[in-house]
Amino acid sequence: MASAKPLVVVTCTAPVNIAVIKYWGKRDQELILPINSSLSVTLHQDQLKTTTTAAISKDFTEDRIWLNGQEEDVGQPRLQACLREIRRLARKRRSDGHEDPLPPSLSYKVHVASVNSFPTAAGLASSAAGYAGLAYALARVYGVESDLSEVARRGSGSACRSLYGGFVEWQMGERADGKDSVARQVAPESHWPELRVLVLVVSAERKLTGSTAGMQTSVETSALLRFRAEALVPARMAEMTRCIRERDFQAFGQLTMQDSNQFHATCLDTFPPISYLSDTSQRVMRLVHRFNAHHGRTKAAYTFDAGPNAVIFTLDDAVAEFVAAVRHSFPPEANGDQPVLPSSARFLKGLPVEPVPLSDALKAALDMDPTPGGIKYIIATQVGPGPQVLDDPGAHLLGPDGLPQPVA
Ligand code: DP6
Repeated sequence: MASAKPLVVVTCTAPVNIAVIKYWGKRDQELILPINSSLSVTLHQDQLKTTTTAAISKDFTEDRIWLNGQEEDVGQPRLQACLREIRRLARKRRSDGHEDPLPPSLSYKVHVASVNSFPTAAGLASSAAGYAGLAYALARVYGVESDLSEVARRGSGSACRSLYGGFVEWQMGERADGKDSVARQVAPESHWPELRVLVLVVSAERKLTGSTAGMQTSVETSALLRFRAEALVPARMAEMTRCIRERDFQAFGQLTMQDSNQFHATCLDTFPPISYLSDTSQRVMRLVHRFNAHHGRTKAAYTFDAGPNAVIFTLDDAVAEFVAAVRHSFPPEANGDQPVLPSSARFLKGLPVEPVPLSDALKAALDMDPTPGGIKYIIATQVGPGPQVLDDPGAHLLGPDGLPQPVA
């Protein structure tokens, strides 16, 4: 048996966020500073989350990290930037007079283990939850209490928005050193309780063009992207904030769809062009527009990140009918519908949604040839809180020896 060594260990969970005003393009690649502000909705961790354990000990000889059970290269520049930044903040806190003298723990090496409750790199913003969780856990073990935007942002830009629950903006900032490029909560998770989110998983495969490389090519080649960032996003940020504050679903849904479409238009305007949307993504867009046209107003809205999966916003009174429309247009593959199946095999995961019949009028309005299996599964969720510390010592992903725990 490994001998128990004195560890400082913290485990926390962090959420996924989905942008309704998209971040695409950096003005500084090293500091990860964006060319425009962005705004996102934090998704509930009951359905999608990253769990991260960080442990420090005087006995550790090097920093190490395990992602989903696999040891990864800790020398990776973005990881190094996060570690450097958190240690800088910890030293700053001490030298600001909070504690004196510098505690030896500041020089301790750290071990980190992190697991996702959803497929990595499937366009579900796993890096955002991952780096937000890393920043949060590191802050707890090194005793940092200041704003963590910069730590998370240095891992992945969109990660700074996962530091808060509810509705979150990432203000682009103006300073060259990035000190004013920070995430702020626009409204808490309790603000709009009727809002529902459906993640339509089209493909669980890794994406072809990663966001980092894709957005850099867009910055270099797309005049449309520059125009968007300078001339359009500032007014869109203000309007989206108003929609959220006033819980105006009509306008919120429309602007969400328009901003997603504009982001994908800038991808197509990139040279060589980038396309993240698949045939199934296009069908989902058509379905949403026909569903809304049938009702004479915006009852559902889609948004797509750098991948083919759709994220749909609706209000609670429209969820059941929209899910029925999805089932009608994308009949689940064999057995996926039986409630006796374990949740991992079910077509509809997450929050329960009552099955409802689809009216003949809506079926006719959708006017779609069914695409069996086009959507692999749906995760039904809602707006949720920011990162949480888990008090249960049984939740630690690292054992008393500082190494990953065998999975129970
Ligand atoms: C399309 O935050 O993954 O999801 O900063 O290079 O790590 P890096 O990029 P990343 O980009 C996210 C792009 C997006 C839109 C968004 O989340 O705002």
